[in-house]
Order: sequence, then C-alpha cells, then structure tokens
Amino acid sequence: MYDLVFKNALMRDGRSSIAGDLAVDGEKIVAIGTGLAGRREIPVDGDWLLPGALDVHVHFSLPFAAAVSSDDYLTGTRAAAMSGVTTVIDFLSQQGDEGIKPGFERRMEMARGKAVVDYAFHACIGRFNAAVEADLPWAIENGMTSLKVFTAYRQAGLQLDDGKLFRVFRRCRELGILPTVHAENGDLIDTLMAEAAAKGTLGMAGHRHSRPAFTEVEAVQRVADIAGAAEAPVYIVHLSSGKSVERIAKARRKGVAIFAETCPQYLLLDDTTFDREDGHCFASCPPVRPPGHQEELWQGLVDGHLQVLATDHCPFPRAAKDTWGGDFRRIPMGIPGLGTLLPLMLDGFRTRGLDVDAAIRALTCNPAQFFGLYPRKGTLQPGADADLVIYSPSRPWTVSAKNHGMNVDYSPYEGRRLTGYPRMTLSRGVVVFDGETCVGQAGCGRYLNRGRPTLEPFLNKA
Ligand code: URP
Ligand code: ZN
Ligand code: ZN
Repeated sequence: MYDLVFKNALMRDGRSSIAGDLAVDGEKIVAIGTGLAGRREIPVDGDWLLPGALDVHVHFSLPFAAAVSSDDYLTGTRAAAMSGVTTVIDFLSQQGDEGIKPGFERRMEMARGKAVVDYAFHACIGRFNAAVEADLPWAIENGMTSLKVFTAYRQAGLQLDDGKLFRVFRRCRELGILPTVHAENGDLIDTLMAEAAAKGTLGMAGHRHSRPAFTEVEAVQRVADIAGAAEAPVYIVHLSSGKSVERIAKARRKGVAIFAETCPQYLLLDDTTFDREDGHCFASCPPVRPPGHQEELWQGLVDGHLQVLATDHCPFPRAAKDTWGGDFRRIPMGIPGLGTLLPLMLDGFRTRGLDVDAAIRALTCNPAQFFGLYPRKGTLQPGADADLVIYSPSRPWTVSAKNHGMNVDYSPYEGRRLTGYPRMTLSRGVVVFDGETCVGQAGCGRYLNRGRPTLEPFLNKA
C-alpha cells in the first residue's frame, strides 16, 4: 500500500504516454503500473499527469531602472505552483568586483522561509575577475553549475568583451559547467539608442529602433563562433528572432554544442503591441519581434534547435512601467510570465497542431538535464521527486491579471482563451495548487544543489 496513488492517468513525460496509475511514497515517485493501491487515492479520470515544469529563467526582486521586479520568492513561487511549475531558477547578481559567494548569500536570505516550490540559482556575472575564478569551485559544490554572462548592458557593468567570453567559455568547459549568455550586441544597441535619442525618438519607436533583430543575430553568431573556438558548450537565454534560430541550426550542424531557450512572449506576441497606448508594458530586452519571426521559433522548438521553454519572468506593475515618462531608456524592462507558462505553451502547441511532446520535453526533462537536475526533476520515473501536475486538457481558462497569480496588475495575454489548465500541482508529494488557489506553505520549497549538466542528448549528431 503506497502513501498516495494517482488513478487512471494518462502519464506524459514528453517521451511516452502511458495509461495507468502512479504511486508516491513520501516525497518520491515509487511506481508506475495498473491496479496500484494507496492510503490516499486521487482519481485523474484520464487527464494528463505530467512532471512538474521547470522555469529556468526567472527574476525575483530584480532592480531594473528605477524599479524592482514585483514578484518575490513567496508571490513568484505561488504563481509558479498555479502554472504547474515546481522548480524555478533565479540569478545571482554581482556587486562591484565581488566573487560569487556574496551574491549567493544575499539571494539565499531573500528566499529564506518564502518559497512554495523548489528553487535554485544561476551564478551570474558582469566582471570575470580573480574573485569569480576563485569562487567557481565553491559555486559548483554548492549547486551553481551554470554561469550567466552578457554581451550587452555595458552601462550597467555587465557586458563582457570577446576575449573574456572566450576565457569564460574555456573555463566552464574545464569545470564541466554550462555558460549561458544574454546575446545582444550591446555596442550596436548603445549606438542606436544614442541615435534615436538625438533624433528625439524617445517613445516605443526608440525601443524598436535600438534593438533590431540583427543586434541579436550578430551576438548569437559571435557567441557560437567563440564557443566553437573554445570547444565549449554554450546556452543562449531568451532567444527572440527567427534568423537567430537559423544561425544556431547552422552552428549545430557544424558540430558546435550550442543550445537555446525561447520564451512565450517571443512565440505569441509581436512588436505591433508597441503601438498600443500601454505598449511600454510589453517592453523587454530583447524585444518581441515583428510578425514573421514567431513561426521560425515554433519550428525551432519542434526541430530541436531550441530545446527549452522558459519565461524570463520579470514583472513590473503598470505604475512602475509608467515611470518611463515617454522615454524608452527609462523603462524597467521585462514581462510577467511565470504564472502562465505551462498552460500558454501547451495550448500554443496544441492549437497549432505541433507535437505536444516537444513542448512537454522543453518544459520538463530538457531544462532538468541542462541544469543538472535530472532525473530528480522533470520526469515521472520512479526515484524522481513527486513534483506532479494533473493537467486537464479540456479545461477552459481565460488569461487575466485577476487569475494569473503573479504580483502584477496586467497580463500581456489578457483575455486570451486557452484550452487546458492544471487541476492540481504537487511539490515533493505535497499539494501546492488545488486547481483554484495556491495552498502551498511559505518555506516548504527547498534550495536545490544542482549537479553537472547532461548535454549529450542535445548534441547534433546529423
Ligand atoms: O527585459 C528583460 N529581459 N529583463 C530581465 C533581464 C534580462 O535581461 O534577462
Ligand atoms: Zn537577459
Ligand atoms: Zn532574464
């Protein structure tokens, strides 16, 4: 007799679909089969039982321009639970010339006693200096097996030059960890921003003008070339444009171990949103792209050139966005996404007739493998954490700021009607979302000490 059995489920992990029962003892999945009996039984009635999703790109309480992103570890992880997300990965921030440890201690303190689902951190630097080098072995021991760097944001002290990029990639390869890159050409963007300002183009046209797709495509190509020269793997975050997919596919065909995530906003929105009165509420870096780019991103996911769906969740309430005062250079950049990730993406794949298993993989086992959490997370195999989602594929749900769980008063997808929504979410065997509200306790989410990335399944063998 098991502690808990899910009866009559369609168990989908992106690799197979099995009808039957799934048993949980304590915090772990322990069996899959038929006729399993539990002290507690939850009828799934043919709905889908999925591994909890991972959102490997979130920003809680991130200072940006004059604001701070409005979800913290409590509100953010509550929204995660409601969206079927049971693991989030946030970013450390480096202050001055410090190494990695101080940023880790600050984030741990921010998370303490708050998280409802499990969480981890990417090490994240603007300066690759002796202190960072010295802290890297410690960071790996403490679960930060990815290192985020930037090719933009020079004024914020984040932009690495090409020599530093090469050194970061080589060092990450030596240590067996994954470098991840915000790939935009910062110098081109700074030039175009100055040009727009000089012409007095300070509205959303200035945002559009200063971050055209080629500023991403160039950076993606350069990152691919430098990673290839360093014989290192590399992972691009928040990929936004169609031509970038082509560059990644080409580099992969040449044997470069380059991987990428994209986000719901780049798949579902386009830059016509900038023409709305509240267009600045849709501003992010990189920006959502003109119509046409989205199809190549969807196809990139189906073809396996892009492997991960994540949100880059970085919410600012309207009042914070409104502080821009008509000047695109003052917008707190970022879009809310965590509370809508899984329902939006599964609906997106299903309504387009795309392979929904590719979406499930991009939300579960793929990010778990890239970020050293597999097979503890992202799978229904016995031995995995009982992070589970009962997803009702026919349940209608209309996206709204009133029901998306996030601490932000608008949704970029307001009014969008979806088919399919989570009926229940469990984190390590405990119900954290009951289909209506988050019922998880603050502080029950744990810090995850991540292992090394598993990259082999994603290498292009063609
Ligand atoms: O606009 C964005 N994406 N804000 C969050 C910070 C980043 O660059 O990921
Ligand atoms: Zn970024
Ligand atoms: Zn980000």
